[in-house]
Amino acid sequence: MSKVTIFNHPLITHKIAIMRDVKTGSKEFRELVEEVAMLMGYEALRDIETVPVEVQTPMAKTTTQMIAKDLAIVPILRAGLGMVNGILALMPTAKVGHIGLYRDHDTLEPKEYYCKLPEDIAEREVILLDPMLATGGSAAAAITLLKRKGCKNIKLMCILGVQEGIDKVITAHPDVSVYVGLKDEKLNEIGYIVPGLGDAGDRIFGTK
Ligand code: PRP
Ligand code: URA
Repeated sequence: MSKVTIFNHPLITHKIAIMRDVKTGSKEFRELVEEVAMLMGYEALRDIETVPVEVQTPMAKTTTQMIAKDLAIVPILRAGLGMVNGILALMPTAKVGHIGLYRDHDTLEPKEYYCKLPEDIAEREVILLDPMLATGGSAAAAITLLKRKGCKNIKLMCILGVQEGIDKVITAHPDVSVYVGLKDEKLNEIGYIVPGLGDAGDRIFGTK
């Protein structure tokens, strides 16, 4: 059964409020995407597997816990790229794969144009990153692709989502845990989140 976490945390909500503002420029927007990803990652990694290790402190020998395996972080291009450094700040040794998807403007169906993943991705826990979960088509397609490569343990992290997108992902992939910073009201007639924050890729990279 899917686990869906909607953060609704004041720190995250505050940062998203600044991101929503049409007057916020790319530099600040990019910094906020990274900061929100880091805040979300801290919680999303709460159940990551640890193993006991022996450590000699200045005072005594003790058995404590360390993270068992490195992660793979997989941003969906383009906008997911903005979240990568936030997660790498928490797990600097994680490997990074990339999945390139864009939404066809007419059908809103995701089109794959790039995929490069760590060779051992099937053995890693995967954090899939995309700031926007709208129809859910892109995230669901990226998860299908990761599963075809053998991934068994996948978490999806999105900054803003709507119920429709969440439902699409958890219906297609009930084994995936979904983390959403805030849930917005609805999609408009061209599949954009409302009130949302506009086109995340364009705002991160300043392309419009
Ligand atoms: C955006 C966003 C997601 C997707 C979400 O990407 O970053 O990948 O749309 O929409 P969905 O849930 O309806 O699939 P877009 O296709 O605009 O590509 P871009 O990041 O390259 O601009
Ligand atoms: N992709 C975006 O970047 N923004 C939306 O609102 C929906 C999809």
